[in-house]
Amino acid sequence: MRSRWTTVALAGLSTLLVLRGITPRPALDAGADLENPSHTLRAAFLGPASCGTASCHGGNGEVQGSELSIWLVRDPHARSGETLLQERSRAILRKWKSADNVAPETEQLCIRCHVGDASILSPNDAGVHSPARIQDGVSCEACHGSAAAWIRPHVQPEWQQKSPAQKQSFGMRDTRSLPGRAATCVDCHVGAPGQAVDHDMLAAGHPRLRFEFGAYHANWPHHWTDGKDRNGHPDFEARAWAIGQATGAEAFLRLLHDAASDSNKAWPEFAALDCFACHHDLNERSWRLRQAAPGRSAGAMRLSPWYTALLSEALLGDEKTARILADLDKLKDRMTPPVPDRKAITTLTTQMLEALRSTPFISIQEAFPTPLILSELAKHGKKRLQSWDEAAAIYLALAALQDGLTEGNARPAREYSSLLKGVHEALRFPPGCASPSRFEPETVRRRLSALGK
Ligand code: HEC
Ligand code: HEC
Ligand code: HEC
Ligand code: HEC
Repeated sequence: MRSRWTTVALAGLSTLLVLRGITPRPALDAGADLENPSHTLRAAFLGPASCGTASCHGGNGEVQGSELSIWLVRDPHARSGETLLQERSRAILRKWKSADNVAPETEQLCIRCHVGDASILSPNDAGVHSPARIQDGVSCEACHGSAAAWIRPHVQPEWQQKSPAQKQSFGMRDTRSLPGRAATCVDCHVGAPGQAVDHDMLAAGHPRLRFEFGAYHANWPHHWTDGKDRNGHPDFEARAWAIGQATGAEAFLRLLHDAASDSNKAWPEFAALDCFACHHDLNERSWRLRQAAPGRSAGAMRLSPWYTALLSEALLGDEKTARILADLDKLKDRMTPPVPDRKAITTLTTQMLEALRSTPFISIQEAFPTPLILSELAKHGKKRLQSWDEAAAIYLALAALQDGLTEGNARPAREYSSLLKGVHEALRFPPGCASPSRFEPETVRRRLSALGK
């Protein structure tokens, strides 16, 4: 995690709260209809101050009760609104819109992901103006759901008896289950129809979204006790990886589906293709010239591997997943022409999304098949590795699965750690470079060969 989030000591919390202008505001639940909670599901946010009074989540000690302080001091999300007020955000927007006079803090698209509640700008359907502000950034309700309908009932003892589905009917998101948790992140971190970082925005300077749930979840300062997550699941991170792969793939396919099916959108959307297939140095000794890519003619476009490369390893499964994987092969093939057939892509992605949504996740199985997945990853590395994205995805998978290997007190093999280090080394961008110009699949292949054993 970057240091600016961790250097502020908790001791200065009260000063920080005042500096940020976060003082409790009255809960604005006048429009809440508790008999019919779904009415208020898309209600405006109340703002983090409503959650963070001293007796609720605004303490300054144990994790439980100090959620606001942890978020405010250490969580990158608390800064995501301020990001929009900075010159670099204006620079992105200027280029993206080809206009001089721009204000990211009033741009719906930026606000959807950097704050979450776009009704900050204008009253919602019920005519209510949100009391939340741009500076609040991605705050409590961006993940836990608009609190208008549940802020009062959730402190009553009966609330604890409610099922996750009942809580959801009040607008509270399921962040406890792993599928629910991963689904909470992807709209902002992969993108969603109407809230996407497309190639135009990347070319204007927005960082590439390269989400991997397992790694992001592990590197994010938690405001809950991890013991609850690991309870009964010592291989929590391996499960989180598998669920993150499926959830990320689903979000990616949803975006691709949206781009393909809407004739007003740019096509093909370059952000759905492999960045480094286009953005690489021309080099006479390039590995691309030395190695034929199986099943692809030279110079063909390539579907972005980031969210789908390891789907088969993550789903390891039954007949239904075999169908998804067969469709994925077709999709890769259909995306190779300079202008892919929109209709064919729309049909394929529809089919895949339906199948993915009805596929049971690996996590509900009793035992997580870590050794089996590792051997599949080794095979993948040996036979199919064709891009930096795939190699990076394999690295992140290995890092998450290390956790699964320690199950049953077996000491994690020293060799495994050095293998991880070796693969990481091979993935590094040269200094000053934003692409892997020295990447060689062969190096990763060699380093992965130890995994087969
Ligand atoms: C409402 C949108 C939104 C949601 C939901 C969201 N994030 Fe974020 N996240 C952001 C934005 C925007 C940033 C960039 C913050 C900035 O401006 O620097 C970010 C940054 C991060 C970072 C820091 C990344 C870095 O480069 O160091 C991590 C880690 C992270 N998010 C994890 C998660 C996880 C895990 C979830 C789901 C449980 C999640 N986020 C849900 C919008 C969101
Ligand atoms: C699909 C959601 C989404 C949209 C739309 C979006 N962003 Fe972001 N933005 C993110 C996420 C997520 C990150 C963090 C990326 C990471 O580190 O993984 C980010 C990072 C950034 C950063 C770099 C922050 C840092 O700390 O390095 C800037 C600047 C930024 N966004 C500005 C903008 C502007 C300006 C707009 C509107 C033109 C915008 N964003 C639209 C999700 C989004
Ligand atoms: C980027 C997403 C995100 C943001 C922002 C966020 N949370 Fe959370 N929160 C989570 C996740 C994920 C968990 C862990 C799963 C769980 O316990 O529901 C969690 C857990 C919690 C828990 C513990 C629930 C339990 O049963 O142990 C509380 C309380 C909580 N959050 C309150 C807050 C408050 C208050 C804020 C704002 C100051 C906030 N959260 C901001 C995602 C988020
Ligand atoms: C089909 C080819 C293609 C793909 C795939 C592609 N780009 Fe581009 N990209 C281009 C072209 C063409 C330009 C314009 C170059 C210019 O203006 O000189 C460009 C420009 C850019 C720029 C502007 C700065 C620069 O160095 O030119 C960035 C940043 C960028 N792309 C990032 C990405 C990222 C990140 C991805 C993957 C998510 C991606 N691109 C995928 C073709 C592609």
